[in-house]
Amino acid sequence: MISHEWRKGLQPTHSDENGPSRHPREGGGPASWIPAFAGMTRKERPPKEHTPGKVYIVGAGPGAHDLITLRGLRALRLADVVFYDALVSPELLAEAPSADLIFVGKRCGRHPVEQHETVRMMIERARRGDIVVRLKGGDPMIYGRGGEEALACNEALIEYEIIPGVCSALGAASFAGIPLTHRGVASSVAFVTAHSAACLGKPDLSWGHLVKAVDTLVIFMGGSWLEPIASALVGFGLPPETAAAVVSHATHENQQTVVGSLRDIAQRVKEAHLATPVLIIVGAVAEFGETLNWFERQRLVASCTAAEDFPTSAL
Ligand SMILES: C[S@@+](CC[C@H](N)C(=O)[O-])C[C@H]1O[C@@H](n2cnc3c(N)ncnc32)[C@H](O)[C@@H]1O
Repeated sequence: MISHEWRKGLQPTHSDENGPSRHPREGGGPASWIPAFAGMTRKERPPKEHTPGKVYIVGAGPGAHDLITLRGLRALRLADVVFYDALVSPELLAEAPSADLIFVGKRCGRHPVEQHETVRMMIERARRGDIVVRLKGGDPMIYGRGGEEALACNEALIEYEIIPGVCSALGAASFAGIPLTHRGVASSVAFVTAHSAACLGKPDLSWGHLVKAVDTLVIFMGGSWLEPIASALVGFGLPPETAAAVVSHATHENQQTVVGSLRDIAQRVKEAHLATPVLIIVGAVAEFGETLNWFERQRLVASCTAAEDFPTSAL
């Protein structure tokens, strides 16, 4: 039980006016307070012997380190241990200089640390009284196993918080200048994955109904399957001229966007040598990537200015 001395450091979530508060694990109605370490600095944090550990499942954002939320950053600065994914930027890890940094990233076909092992280590460290940050690319609740990890904490009776992050689809949309909805052009969007079946050797293309119902599709984990995805979408009824864009390393310094149509996008991406991770955006809004691609244009201008060779035609 947390000592009274440290109560003042715990952020109330409901008023304490109705008498003594209960710990959430004591049951009997909604929690009146929970330890909210992320509101403290490292110095203010109670010593471990006075507090149970806690897991923060944190969205790191799409890539650029300053796209994490303030709450996520606070949790990171307080962490004793950070379990981080492959797409997390090194600048963010530098925000936790005294934490143990444990890489648990996964890429298609390569699992250096199995998911159950990651969860086991997180829970073990929280039981020791540690502040555990599980730092995940984008948002933890979009293709991020955030739900699975929260369920595991629930089962183990470990306190946890889920701190949202900017999903890579939203980062790509903003940084590539492709609004996922746009008045008069697109009013609905769906996030889909090509990944699960792709690892088994064939892309997951059971999206016939989506093609008819949704204006914009954002396809995750489809970088290796561009050609079959594009032809399947045409097979499901989308015209081959439908606009499509592929955004590689969205929001990173090396972001690259290729815009085309379902007919030629795979070839264009091949010619541009785009590297994964990529997001595929399909629908009329993809065309905006030609005109609103402010981020890559800005980088081009900066590099031309640096080289004192500034082609105004690039603007
Ligand atoms: C396992 S999912 C994780 C998604 C993440 N939770 C999110 O909210 O963005 C990984 C996939 O997200 C996409 N992705 C993540 N970061 C990206 C980035 N910076 N640029 C392009 N695609 C990205 C790619 O499709 C990648 O294969």
